[in-house]
Amino acid sequence: MNDVGSVAQLRADGTLRHLLTLEGLPRAMLEELLDRAQGFVRAPGERLAASELLSGVTVANLFTEPSTRTRVSFELAAKRLGAEVVNLEVQLSSRAKGESMLDTVYTLEALHSDVLVIREAEVGVLPLVAGHVAPHVSVLSAGEAHIAHPTQGLLDALTVRQRKERFDNLSIAIVGDIRHSRVARSAFHAFRAFGVPDLRIVAPPAFMPEAHEFAGATRFGTLKTGLKDVDVVMMLRIQKERMTHASLPDGDRYFAKFGLTPERLALAKPDAIVMHPQPMNRGIEIASDVADGAQSAIRDQVRNGVAVRMAVLAAVVPPLGARA
Ligand code: NCD
Repeated sequence: MNDVGSVAQLRADGTLRHLLTLEGLPRAMLEELLDRAQGFVRAPGERLAASELLSGVTVANLFTEPSTRTRVSFELAAKRLGAEVVNLEVQLSSRAKGESMLDTVYTLEALHSDVLVIREAEVGVLPLVAGHVAPHVSVLSAGEAHIAHPTQGLLDALTVRQRKERFDNLSIAIVGDIRHSRVARSAFHAFRAFGVPDLRIVAPPAFMPEAHEFAGATRFGTLKTGLKDVDVVMMLRIQKERMTHASLPDGDRYFAKFGLTPERLALAKPDAIVMHPQPMNRGIEIASDVADGAQSAIRDQVRNGVAVRMAVLAAVVPPLGARA
């Protein structure tokens, strides 16, 4: 399935136009995006080669939910490819949200935006926008409700590939608030597409997704069983904003059962890596000595975020000369 609702993510010629979900995208396309992203990865302190791939292109970041990392990395990615960038943080009234989002989008189009990067808390607004933009405009999700965060899924896959080289022999545990997590869903789509043979989800009952979701993943109710001999431990943030106050777990009690401590990490393979999309709740889902420890790949994830977003921007914008 390459469609989101009635919106096709691919153009008639098979190239990527919108990126709203990784679900259903061909593995070869995901691989190409990772290869391209890898080419943009730079060591700390290393100068970036200036690129004009996106010169003359305007990228608009439209965020209706708070974000620092994702917004900044989309902005840097666009600028490093020579694009112009506009940033909009908007509060839309929840009444007629779709319509007011479309008004904002038409304004951005009139200002010659070619790529719209959108983060939105309500399900369905992103596909609605993608279904209404002009033919030369691309829509990229920077996170849709609990549904999808495709560039995060790609950067997570890139981080795993850099550290583990291949996917077809891996055990990966996704741990924590899976139910409310777009990060978990997009990572799952990526890992499944790359053929990870042992995918595990580890969570207390309240944080488990619906039974029909995460098909093919094995479910675990404790870290003791779920982390046994895994290669990758992917921790998630508790998504307080997607829960009612009553359903919020007490931080200390949660940490006692589901917090990643050095002792629990020792259940995984000795060379297992630890990931977290950030922002981290230290002392709730992860201990500081694990977050900052030798097995942590969390800073790699941030660095890879810029490279992946450069790759996605370069993929959706047709090369000069071919532009509509
Ligand atoms: C994530 C998000 O907002 O979806 N963070 C991010 O993109 N860097 C994860 C989270 O908020 O838990």
